[in-house]
This record gives sequence, structure tokens and C-alpha cells, in this order.
Amino acid sequence: MMTLLLLLLFLCEAHSQAASKPNFVLLMADDLGIGDPGCYGNKTLRTPNIDRLARGGVKLTQHLAASPLCTPSRAAFMTGRYPVRSGMASQSQVGVFLFSASSGGLPPSEITFAKLLKDQSYSTALIGKWHLGISCHDRGDFCHHPTSHGFDYFHGLPLTNLRDCKPRGGTVFAPGIRLLVFVPLRLITVALLTLAALKWLGLIRTPRCVFLGLLLLAALLIGLLLGFLNYFRPLNCFLMRNREVTQQPLSYDDLTQRLTADATRFLRRNAKTPFLLVLSFLHVHTALFSSKKFAGKSKHGAYGDAVEEMDWSVGQILDVLDKLKLADNTLVYFSSDQGAHIEEVTIKDEVHGGSNGIYKGGKANNWEGGIRVPGIVRWPGVIPAGLEIDQPTSNMDIFPTVAKLAGSPLPQDRIIDGRDLMPLLRGQTQRSEHEFLFHYCNSYLNAVRWNPPNSTSIWKAFFFTPKFFPEGSNGCFHTRVCLCDGQYVAYHDPPLLFEISRDPRERHPLTPASEPRFQEILATMQEAVARHVQTLQDVPNQLSLGNLIWKPWLQLCCSSSGLSCKCDREKQDGRRF
Ligand SMILES: *[C@@H]1O[C@H](CO)[C@@H](O)[C@H](O)[C@H]1NC(C)=O
Ligand SMILES: *[C@@H]1O[C@H](CO)[C@@H](O)[C@H](O)[C@H]1NC(C)=O
Repeated sequence: MMTLLLLLLFLCEAHSQAASKPNFVLLMADDLGIGDPGCYGNKTLRTPNIDRLARGGVKLTQHLAASPLCTPSRAAFMTGRYPVRSGMASQSQVGVFLFSASSGGLPPSEITFAKLLKDQSYSTALIGKWHLGISCHDRGDFCHHPTSHGFDYFHGLPLTNLRDCKPRGGTVFAPGIRLLVFVPLRLITVALLTLAALKWLGLIRTPRCVFLGLLLLAALLIGLLLGFLNYFRPLNCFLMRNREVTQQPLSYDDLTQRLTADATRFLRRNAKTPFLLVLSFLHVHTALFSSKKFAGKSKHGAYGDAVEEMDWSVGQILDVLDKLKLADNTLVYFSSDQGAHIEEVTIKDEVHGGSNGIYKGGKANNWEGGIRVPGIVRWPGVIPAGLEIDQPTSNMDIFPTVAKLAGSPLPQDRIIDGRDLMPLLRGQTQRSEHEFLFHYCNSYLNAVRWNPPNSTSIWKAFFFTPKFFPEGSNGCFHTRVCLCDGQYVAYHDPPLLFEISRDPRERHPLTPASEPRFQEILATMQEAVARHVQTLQDVPNQLSLGNLIWKPWLQLCCSSSGLSCKCDREKQDGRRF
């Protein structure tokens, strides 16, 4: 009798434990601004599905990306740590990976939430964009690849969606091409003309080989440029399924539909086991694209079409969760890796970047517009529906939140900067555990935010700010993204202090005259910075020049025939998985 009781007890326990392991669907948009979704106040862009998600859960209104750029922000999201800790914050001007065959990436020593969940027997998948590297030393090691970082299944774009990925979509390399090709070409032309004139006038005798040499150099530069423009797309814009290249170059035809269908297949396949799905949209980074059903339908051009198509995809995922009766046991998170890229304006003056609402700046700077992103968390029955939380939270918080809910201990051998969100989301506390948050521009500490425990004020101090151009505009339109150092920024000593809680637009820097506690507030923040800096360790720089450049021996190419990397195995594979 006793044994039977014990057995029953044991079975109940086992059952309740299984039932208490929630599923996770983490939806990450690219470059979506906080002013874009309807639930954050947009009246003209239609995002009914994101809005539906927000109505069913908590809407965070001070949700902060750990960095205003893709690669570092995503590294922080995956690991719960500031990107400087993993070496994923650049010390130069280039802050993200631009080539698929770079050797940098999320180091194998880093622990992602996917890895923790895999160890708790979750099925794990990443569908969509990765942008955290592929291989280290040779093209077969896949040391940075999603399948080496805890994901059982990967289907998507290992690099990122760039203008150059779309035929006639333009190029993000215009400034580099100007500097490395057009400027030298102009010099060579001037030299040739001068030499020819002098020779004609009989003033000097230039040997013929000098002319020939200059002409050859010009031809070489033009050849290199044409080669680069011709090969960039197939070599960098391709889709993979696990470790196999499946479409090279990638096709934008029904791309969102294909990835969404794959995500819903993953949900169906895993309906009976705990799962983690990270659906990392290619939308709404340029190159903008959308299928026939969405093209030309929004009120906001190609950008609006892309947002509305992404919203459709969110709806598909929510519908499948409902159909499979998994909604109540699934935590769904929706966010963006950083603010909208407001400098995205084409030569034809079409706006290709989104809206950061009332906030200043955008992608690539640490004004609120660059880092304050949409943040929605839904878990019916556990997290109250319709709640709005204005406390500072970070995309690094997903790591400890997900780990704890899945029953995984946190790694003890490293600093985790994220904090468990559940007490805040459940309404068990009114305060975020983040007293201080540090805002980096690449590897430079740009600003600090203080959320004092004894007050409702939230302070933000900038050590430098980007120099907007043209002056008075809201971005760095000359460089297309704001840069983090040197002539591109203005340094502030004393730091530029704002009371973010009263002045979220960051329009009125405080002075000792306007804020009597000016010195005291800054002193507390400086002390916090000093403590924070002491916790940083020297780690290999994953975005060093050597780790950023194209390394031919790392290049993935799906065909072994000659120089063309071309294949399309998307369809045939779809049936296998
Ligand atoms: C809504 O989004 C579009 C596209 O980003 C933008 O142009 C518009 O200004 C936004 N509206 C508001 C009220 O923010
Ligand atoms: C709040 O606490 C800080 C120390 O954390 C202290 O410096 C400050 O004076 C306090 N402010 C108020 C209004 O009590």
C-alpha cells in the first residue's frame, strides 16, 4: 500500500515537473524601431499579430538592447553578457561581420541559453539570421555556427541580409569603394594626364613603361572592384540547413513564407517535447523584400511592406501554438536587436528605415532610439495580460529568465549581466534588478543608466555622443551609421546628464544649476562605472581586422565546379525535415 502511494506520488511529481517545463518561442526582428508596431503607438503601420501578442502579455516600454548593432546585440542576447565580455565588441569602426568567410564569431567557450536548454533535453532550433560567425580555422570546423552553440537545428542566413544580397539593391560598401578604388583611380587619372601634357610640351621625357604601369594599376583596381561586386552576393548571401549550404545565392522569393513554414514544422514535430524556437527574422534590415501578397500594400513603402509581412509571420506562429494547444505552456518573446536605422534613405530618397517614435537617434548610437526596442513577453495564465512595465530591462535578461524556467542552473564560472525577468513580469516586484546598465558603442563605454532603488528618477549620463550630420538632423547621414570614436564623436567632461524618466527624448541636458544633486548623481554613476570596468577581462577580439577580413580558405561554396558557387536545394530538403 505504502509503495503504491509512494509510486503515485512519484508519478504525480514527475508529471507536474514535465508540465512545468515551458516551451520558448523567441522572436527577434532586425532593425525594427519602437515606433513601428501598432501596440507602441503606430497608427498607420498594421501589425495586428504583434499587437495581439502584446494584449495577451506584458509590454515593456524601457526594454534595452545591449548594443545598438546586430552582431554585439545578438551576442549579448544569446549569452546574457555584455558583448565586451565575449570579445564581440569591435575596437575599430567596423562593428559587425560583413563576410561569411571571416574567422571571428561567438567563441566556443561562450554558453548560450540554447546550450543550457539542450542540456535540459529541450529540442532547440534557430531559424533565420545568425550573424555570429561560422568557422575559426578551416571551413569544416563550424566553431561559431549555431549547431556548435546549442541549436539542434539551424535553417537560415549565417551572415546578415545586406543591400548587396539583392540584385540592383545597392551596396553597403560605397564608402569603402570610394576610398579604396575611386580616390586612387582619380589620382592615377590626374597623374596620367599631367605626365602626358608635360611630355607633349617636351618638358620631360617619361619612359613608356611608366604610362603602362599606371594604366595596368587602374585596370587592376577596376578589375578588383568588378570582381568584388560580382562575387560578393554568392559568397556571402546564402542559406544553410544545419551545416549544409542549401541555396547559394539566396533567393528572396517567398523567403519569409519558407522560413515561417519551416518554423511551424519544427513546432509540430516537437509538440510533445519541451522546445526552444528562436525565429530570427531577416526583416526589416535592408535589403528590403516582401512577397507578392505584401508588396505595395502598406502605407509606408517597401519598409512598411516588410514589417507587415513579418507581422504575418508572427501570426502564423501564434496560430500554430493555438492549434497545437501549446499557447498556455509557451513563453513567447518578441523584440528587435536594436532601434530603426534612420539613415537608410536610398539615392532616390525612399526611406528604407523605420521609426523610433519619440526617441532620439537610432541604430548604431546609444540615444534611446538606438537601444530602446519593442519588448513583449506572453505566457497566458502565468504572466498577466495587458500589463505595461516601464522599468529598465535588457535583452540580456532573456538568458537567465529562460534558464531558470527550464530548470537549468546558471554557469558559475563567469559573470552573467542579465537578470531574471519573472518577478517583474509576474508583478511580484515593481522594480527591475538593474540598478545600473552600461551602454557600449562597439567596445567603448558610451553611457550609463542609473535606476536608484530609493527614487523614481532614472538617470543617463553620456561620456560621448555621436556628431550628427547634417547638423540638427537625427542621424549620421554622411557615414550612413554613426561611428564610435575619434572625429565622429563629441566627448563630454563632465558627462552629459539626462533624467530619462522625465526627459525620454533626451532634449535637456542637466547642469549643476538645473539639478542641485548634479555632482552627487554623477559621482555615484562614475563609481559604478569604475566597479564595472574592474570586472572586465582581456579576451580575444573577435572583430579585429584579422578576424573580420575575408579568408578564402573559410569560404563555403555548395558546388565544387570551378568558380561559381551556385545551388538550390531548398525545395528537396524541405521534404526531408
Ligand atoms: C509608423 O511607422 C512608419 C514606418 O516606420 C513611420 O513612417 C511613421 O512615422 C510611424 N508613425 C508613428 C506615429 O510613429
Ligand atoms: C538614494 O541612495 C543613494 C545611494 O544609493 C544616495 O546617494 C542618495 O542620496 C539617495 N537619495 C535619496 C533621495 O534618498
